Amino acid sequence: MSQGKRTAGRAAADLVDTGMRVGLGTGSTVFFTLERLAERVQGEGLRMVGVPTSVDTERKATAMGIPLTTLDQVDSLDLTIDGADEIDARLDMVKGGGGALLREKVIASISRREVIVVDAAKVVERLCRKFLLPVEVVPFARPVVRRALEQLGGRVVLRLAEPGRAYVTDNGNEIFDVAFPDGIADAARMEARLDAIPGIVETGLFCGLAHELFIGHDDGRVERRRRA
Ligand code: 5RP
Repeated sequence: MSQGKRTAGRAAADLVDTGMRVGLGTGSTVFFTLERLAERVQGEGLRMVGVPTSVDTERKATAMGIPLTTLDQVDSLDLTIDGADEIDARLDMVKGGGGALLREKVIASISRREVIVVDAAKVVERLCRKFLLPVEVVPFARPVVRRALEQLGGRVVLRLAEPGRAYVTDNGNEIFDVAFPDGIADAARMEARLDAIPGIVETGLFCGLAHELFIGHDDGRVERRRRA
């Protein structure tokens, strides 16, 4: 675990003010956000309510004593703090390494401010040169979606929970991890093309959704960038 993740995750938790409705992302960087929020709820009497982006985050936040609500109770969020697998200079990102991409995108779509927390290793020039693109798929449509992704130049691997058993998301779907050997040059165009394939529920390309980026460095510095 990099020190940079801890630095970024904790720093973003200090953006939360009393009365806020906060989207809670998923992953090891956001874990530190949850930890700091719990300290503030218990130590400072911070009054906030969170909407988790995964069952994993829901369990962790509940265990830490962070008050939670659901999308039935809120129609928008003041702030969301989430992680990313890769992020570029435009703050377009790849997400879904932890499998929570669908709920993360729903939460991002109703957030007035989406703050992304990463360590420096996640900042890239071009998306998907190294990281595989997660694509959430309805199981019935698996072969159709596989062929469509291959036609777009992708090399497709079904994510497994263990040998011989497909990983299943919180929404009962499966995930293809897709390699694009040269990366993705135009992420917004690719996102739109993938969204048009029947059977794809959501993709890990998040274009135009992040407002701000916190990059945590191992020496304790936090570099903040805003979307242009
Ligand atoms: C989960 C995600 C996470 O935000 C992403 O995988 C980053 O995780 P970590 O902070 O553990 O590196 O998109 O679906």
